[in-house]
Amino acid sequence: MKIAIVLGTRPEIIKMVSVIDEIILRGHELILIHTGQHYDHEMSDQFFEELELPTPNYNIGVGSSSHGKQTGKMMEGIEEILLKETPDILLVQGDTNAVLAGALVASKLHIPVGHVEAGLRSYDITMPEEVNRKAADVCSKYYFVPTEKSAINLSLEGISRKDIFITGNTVVDACFRNLEIAKKHIDDIENSSNPSNSFNPSNYSNSSNSSNNSTSPDSSKSSSFSNEILNLLKLDNIITLTMHRAENVDNKKRLTDIIDAIAELKDFNIVFPIHPRTKKTMENFGLYEDLSKLDNVHLIKPLGYLDFLLLMSKSLIIVTDSGGLQEEAITLDIPSLTLRYNTERPETVEMGGNILVGADKDFIVDSANKILNDKSFYDKMSLAPNPYGDGTAGKKILDIIEDSYEKGECRLDS
Ligand code: UD1
Ligand code: UDP
Repeated sequence: MKIAIVLGTRPEIIKMVSVIDEIILRGHELILIHTGQHYDHEMSDQFFEELELPTPNYNIGVGSSSHGKQTGKMMEGIEEILLKETPDILLVQGDTNAVLAGALVASKLHIPVGHVEAGLRSYDITMPEEVNRKAADVCSKYYFVPTEKSAINLSLEGISRKDIFITGNTVVDACFRNLEIAKKHIDDIENSSNPSNSFNPSNYSNSSNSSNNSTSPDSSKSSSFSNEILNLLKLDNIITLTMHRAENVDNKKRLTDIIDAIAELKDFNIVFPIHPRTKKTMENFGLYEDLSKLDNVHLIKPLGYLDFLLLMSKSLIIVTDSGGLQEEAITLDIPSLTLRYNTERPETVEMGGNILVGADKDFIVDSANKILNDKSFYDKMSLAPNPYGDGTAGKKILDIIEDSYEKGECRLDS
């Protein structure tokens, strides 16, 4: 079977790892199409190298621009590639512009679309991601949803239940596999007390990953843990902070309120791997320099996945507006404060691990201090089952696709 994947940003790369591994492991032909929406080394290439993903067959190189221009360029590029490659199915993941472009183009060419992480709804149509995920769901044939709640969202929109498959979220696959690798490496460093050893993840690969050897990039390029992150991991009371949503970082008042809250959290060490969008707007609004002067705030460049997983796992709290981080926090049993007023991940709030603090300065500060002084939060989280599954989503997705292909449903001419 010939399976094409369109991806373009950091979270899509991470969340497609287990699907790509399964495609290669099972001997299917993979056509990997990178739109080039994220292009900095820290936002794209470092993940291909560190997670041993095959180099994309195509990179459309769209770069940064307005939504219409960016999506239009993606569509043009994807159409040309799909016409040439004629895959049996196209997979997209999540809610970025790549998802919109890929799903729309493939459906018009009558190529079946599988939407990984389908069915999420924030019901906030001002978010570009809500538009993208809804439009992609109109164009899809297979809905790989993480939870029962997302399945219900789709049913309510008239999607037939037979096309909806509850698989869990592939982020759990990525999190489990790579945290194990990262922790093993830290143990090795502690045992050898030589932090400068370069780290080759293939030494710790599980069987599905090691089958990837024929397609994996040169493993000597694999990441090493920087001394910077090793030192940060020794700190107490860590908050991992990330943000990049347009509604927070492009709005001066909201961004200022959030930064003011961060500056008040003196009892914490705040580690902030900063998204390029956020760095640019903080600099433009004159917010970067003052924050960077605070001793307990560590502004660093975006981290590789292994470093970042370790950082999250050593954190007391995760403060974020990221979708993926809300899920990873739950998976690692770390409470999160989400810098939004709604979420398409309500499961995280319902199980008691996520508080929607918005951009409300006092609420952010009070919630962080409450968690610092109330350890029962962690006990509650560790007892609750993970709503996003057991880390086998990639396998389930491939089982479903193969089954459908056997039945002759997953073809251009079916
Ligand atoms: C995009 C996705 C968002 C996802 C996020 C993951 C859409 C509409 N948005 O948002 O859903 O959560 O990725 O991180 O698809 N930039 C760089 N270098 C890069 C990439 C971006 O400097 O490699 C800067 C550029 O100034 C750019 C800005 O960041 O204009 C925003 O990038 P863009 O890809 O448009 O949106 P994200 O905020 O990254
Ligand atoms: N991430 C990472 N390094 C970082 C910040 C995030 O590897 O410095 C990972 C994180 O673990 C998660 C994904 O990037 O898997 C989330 O990406 P982002 O927040 O950009 O996008 P979203 O999930 O909001 O779409």
